Amino acid sequence: MQKLKLALIGCGGIMNAHVRGLLTFEDAEIVAVADPRQERTQAMKTRTGATRSYPSHVELFENEDNLDAVYICVEPTAHKNIEETCIARSLPFMVEKPMTMDMDQAKAIASATTNLVTCVGFQDRYLDLTDRIREEVSDMKVGLVYGSWIGGVPQVWWWMKKDTCGGQLYEQNIHLLDQLRYFFGEADKVYATCGRTLINPNEFPDTLPSYDTDDFSTATITFKNGVVANLMSGCYITKKGNPVRNGLTIIGRDKSLEYGLRSNLAIYESGRETKITKQVDQMALFDRAFLDAVKAGDPSMVRSPYADAYKTLLLGAAANKSMETGEVVKL
Ligand SMILES: NC(=O)c1ccc[n+]([C@@H]2O[C@H](COP(=O)([O-])OP(=O)(O)OC[C@H]3O[C@@H](n4cnc5c(N)ncnc54)[C@H](O)[C@@H]3O)[C@@H](O)[C@H]2O)c1
Repeated sequence: MQKLKLALIGCGGIMNAHVRGLLTFEDAEIVAVADPRQERTQAMKTRTGATRSYPSHVELFENEDNLDAVYICVEPTAHKNIEETCIARSLPFMVEKPMTMDMDQAKAIASATTNLVTCVGFQDRYLDLTDRIREEVSDMKVGLVYGSWIGGVPQVWWWMKKDTCGGQLYEQNIHLLDQLRYFFGEADKVYATCGRTLINPNEFPDTLPSYDTDDFSTATITFKNGVVANLMSGCYITKKGNPVRNGLTIIGRDKSLEYGLRSNLAIYESGRETKITKQVDQMALFDRAFLDAVKAGDPSMVRSPYADAYKTLLLGAAANKSMETGEVVKL
């Protein structure tokens, strides 16, 4: 069997989560890895059996001309000519959300990839619970939705500053933002507001840049189909404050849904409650779908191609603009 030859760019936290699924696939092999942090490329080589490693995507692309697909898991400000090189070589790629901080770059990549197999890391589109919610909302008359993703501060350097991570809504809660689009279609306008009253910028180790992002925010989104959603994001709770029940509540006229983030779903209708627990490994399904699309050369087999994910990114950026200006932002 001819195996798909994969290269990994960025060998940090989330790449290791993808590798867990990739290593179970018999039709793919990881041949090369890149990261400026040598201890990470070394560990990734040991874990995956890759024979070649490079200090960045530049050397990787200079030396590898026989790849079938690339995984890109770098921080949001590090997308410098990585996707563009893949496009120039018609090389399918998977890239993690949020795909960049530069909206001009995202727009250019979105318009250049409509015929290329691309995949953005919206793993939640592959949850069985997401499929069920889509099925349920298709015949529900929904008015309001509210939801949240409130946690702590991930302690990596790029997460500490708003201009390197985009804030909790743009960086992490972008998953729920994307699910809202997957359920209700495109947004018409957004108003968002935020607060910075709880976290002491100096409460983190000295090795990290000084924290300056919003501790919490809330965004009110009006969708073109009339649904109004309120999405709360926060990164201020301590271990003592956990666990918070995050997810989405979708309220229709005759039925309502309570989605517990990546865990369960309750459906309330006519006095009855139906409870469903997540049964799938959505990350493995996500990676499998991407590789199947690569093999078939069919971009439509991916649930979150770049051009679609770009619209979620735009919505996140619009919410950030609203936080800055205090104005409602039209999409
Ligand atoms: N889909 C999800 O559920 C999910 C979960 C976590 C993180 N993410 C996203 O994945 C991205 C990476 O997050 P992470 O937690 O893995 O970060 P990380 O900081 O742990 O890893 C990023 C790695 O990229 C490397 N890198 C930077 N520039 C590079 C280059 N030019 N060539 C090669 N390597 C390079 C860095 O040295 C670092 O090791 C972020 O955008 C994050 O939002 C997605």
